[in-house]
Amino acid sequence: MAEFDLVVRGGQVVTAADRMMCDIGIRAGRITALAEGLGQGAREIDARGRLVLPGGIDSHVHLDQYQGEDVTMADGFETGSRSAAAGGNTTLIPFALQQRGQSLRQTVEAYHAKATGQSYVDYGFHLIITDPTPHVLGQELPALIADGYTSVKIFMTYDDLVLRDREILEVLSVTRSHGALVMIHAEGYDQIKFLTDKLEQAGHTAPYFHAASRPQVVEREATHRALAHAELTEAAVMIVHVSGAEAMEQIDWARRRGIRVFAETCPQYLVLTADHLKGLNMDETGGKYVCSPPPRDEAAQAALWRGIAAGVFDVISSDHSPFRYNDTQGKLHPKGRTSFRWVPNGIPGVAARLPILFSEGVGKGRISLERFVALTASNHAKLYGMYPKKGTIAVGSDADLTLWDPERRVTLTQDLMFHGCDYTPYEGLEVTGWPVTTILRGKVVFDAGQPLGRKGGGTFLSRGASVSA
Ligand code: URP
Ligand code: ZN
Ligand code: ZN
Repeated sequence: MAEFDLVVRGGQVVTAADRMMCDIGIRAGRITALAEGLGQGAREIDARGRLVLPGGIDSHVHLDQYQGEDVTMADGFETGSRSAAAGGNTTLIPFALQQRGQSLRQTVEAYHAKATGQSYVDYGFHLIITDPTPHVLGQELPALIADGYTSVKIFMTYDDLVLRDREILEVLSVTRSHGALVMIHAEGYDQIKFLTDKLEQAGHTAPYFHAASRPQVVEREATHRALAHAELTEAAVMIVHVSGAEAMEQIDWARRRGIRVFAETCPQYLVLTADHLKGLNMDETGGKYVCSPPPRDEAAQAALWRGIAAGVFDVISSDHSPFRYNDTQGKLHPKGRTSFRWVPNGIPGVAARLPILFSEGVGKGRISLERFVALTASNHAKLYGMYPKKGTIAVGSDADLTLWDPERRVTLTQDLMFHGCDYTPYEGLEVTGWPVTTILRGKVVFDAGQPLGRKGGGTFLSRGASVSA
């Protein structure tokens, strides 16, 4: 009988700390040996010439999230997780969104019903809290944290999601006591409304003006306020989707004061600019790029790369938030055509995240391979309570692996994304480096451009405390 179920042989194994040439022996879904010249596996994969990386972990994706009656998200768990696997990912953490008036426990049960039996990769849930009643904060949230839902997202904008400052403080004080991490969408509600009204009054309704309605000061002000709230409550917070220098400076300032802050940025802020929102001659194709915060300019991109190199950022996620473009339930729904105010916010990107970051980061000498692994897998596992089960290549860890061809040159196109969207905002972008095989707990789920795994092979992950929460 073979010693292993699977041996991945002869690749260069890379973790956040090291790189080494060795074989990986896998039994019952876990790594049981790392050495040169391992014995036979029932199945063998030749990884010579490949990098073998921990499977990507994307801790910021939106799947099957309720958007109101007239807008529908383009990906549920099946297509979203298939797209994730195509892009070299083995773990996702989407959101369970509480609608106002809804119990948090019911919210979580509803998202389990959406996900069970559908996912190609493993997944957990962050809790989006929109209605922090005394019952939610006093009973439900502590119980859910104890059950392994150890992270929360709150919003400082959007009519249906925004929390007042007092509510933010109450949430932070509960997560501080119970050891959960709070992701904060830091853009100020009133500044956005003020600017949106002024732009519309001036007739500036095209998608491009979405960017003008949310300049960096909007993000900077809210980031500062969020960090002041974190200081007051001593809670750990993650400022998500940081888009430029101004929010980054606030994070740097907060760290110097000893505030417990982590930071995330996303590929769209590294390779897109607000000019993409102009579409052709300011037309509605700009809606394909409407996301919040909006992409900025080349100076902001350069600042983010400096921040990545300097260690300001802990994680890089996709913020995959997919809406079809040519669809009345998507970017072109009737109200969306009257003003940027109504265009659904968000872009797809779960399949493109790793190739873009590898190519622009490792390929262009901006980050090391080890840092790439930290930013795209290991730090997500640590901060969201999954390490070392997930996020590394070590004896005892889940055998979640991505075999990577560092030389392959690829032009990103819609047909490589395997998502439910009808476009990719990265169409035509040239990358070098590509995930050729994705392995989840010892089973190949995506190989040579095709999904192979069983839909439903991905399972729910109950998570522990953040290592630093
Ligand atoms: O525009 C975006 N980012 N939409 C997704 C929701 C969020 O704020 O992350
Ligand atoms: Zn957000
Ligand atoms: Zn998001």
